[in-house]
Amino acid sequence: MNLVENFSLKKLNTFGIDASAKYFLEANSISDIQNLLDHKKISPFRDGVSPLLIMGGGSNILFTKNFDGLVLKNCITGIELIKEDSENYYVKAGAGVIWHEFVLHCIKNNYAGVENLSLIPGSVGAAPIQNIGAYGVEQKEVFFELEAISLKEKNTIHLSHFDCQFGYRDSIFKREAKGKFIITSVTFRLFKKPKLNTSYGVINQEMEKMGVKEVSIASISQAVCNIRKSKLPNPEVLGNAGSFFKNPTIPVEQYIELKKKFPDIVAFPPSPLGRGGAGWKLAAGWLIEQCGWKGKHVGNTGVHKDQALVLVNYGNANGSEVFELSGKIMESVKEKFGVELEREVVIV
Ligand code: EPU
Repeated sequence: MNLVENFSLKKLNTFGIDASAKYFLEANSISDIQNLLDHKKISPFRDGVSPLLIMGGGSNILFTKNFDGLVLKNCITGIELIKEDSENYYVKAGAGVIWHEFVLHCIKNNYAGVENLSLIPGSVGAAPIQNIGAYGVEQKEVFFELEAISLKEKNTIHLSHFDCQFGYRDSIFKREAKGKFIITSVTFRLFKKPKLNTSYGVINQEMEKMGVKEVSIASISQAVCNIRKSKLPNPEVLGNAGSFFKNPTIPVEQYIELKKKFPDIVAFPPSPLGRGGAGWKLAAGWLIEQCGWKGKHVGNTGVHKDQALVLVNYGNANGSEVFELSGKIMESVKEKFGVELEREVVIV
């Protein structure tokens, strides 16, 4: 067991925040994790006496302070086709596989369903936790089951789609099951016959620009990569964690009032007609931009110039600076529109 003390997490979080962990460990296999959990040095973390943080790609996390416990980085790799039937491929991927590498593997092998989720930063194990989504598709549409180790019982369990209780950027792992399991692998049910989803207008526009004659999962993936690269900052160049806030959902009555006052408001109707879920979903990026935040620098942090939903680290920001800025943004959106924003990024 290679337990490192006072480990810098700067390279392990896409925000590039210079925080450290009191203890740090990497796990490369299920047996690695099971052995670790048996170790007496680890038991206080396993039993919840001292804080434990399981990290994947570090792309949805903001460290506001040093972590006074054990950070366990999940590095379980491997992608395997475990079965197929007339319609689907069942593909199992280790929790530590980089999400985009998994997407590329699927495209190469003609496994359809994740092409719209191209280039999302992070790892396979984190995908179900926040039910990642982009360009009209959510991870839950291809999720089949996952394997996890229970910290308490130390046994391996399987959780189904139903068990995970997926919602918009949400699952049981953000609520009741938080901190109770270590996800070791995820099995996805991918399609033999693609359901090409170009419901987001920008995808078609981009494919036109690319001169695509016949739409395929590869061309959608390429279009999504191009769009993401043009809109979202590359964390390797400018630290960030993607959308910092969720797009808020509001009741129809509130939406009608807001629409009267702000006719240009960007919103999506309730499902199944649109992307809104139970109420109207507002584009938080628009709300934030209207409050004048887009492109603003505040000390070492700021709001991205092309996408107001993304907060960035201009170099030496500390997490509490970013957190403070997010609070100010929330206040101003509340004041101008009466709408509460909720942070999407996990705050540590
Ligand atoms: N908009 C603005 N100003 C901005 C940003 C957006 O007015 O600065 C308006 C525009 O009208 C735009 C609309 O908001 O048409 C929606 O913007 P965009 O298509 O960029 O999507 P988003 O709602 O801001 C969501 C996800 C992204 C995902 C994109 C594409 C959330 C919180 N974010 O962003 O996911 O890539 O849709 O599907 O749902 C992430 O979760 O980290 C993430 C990047």
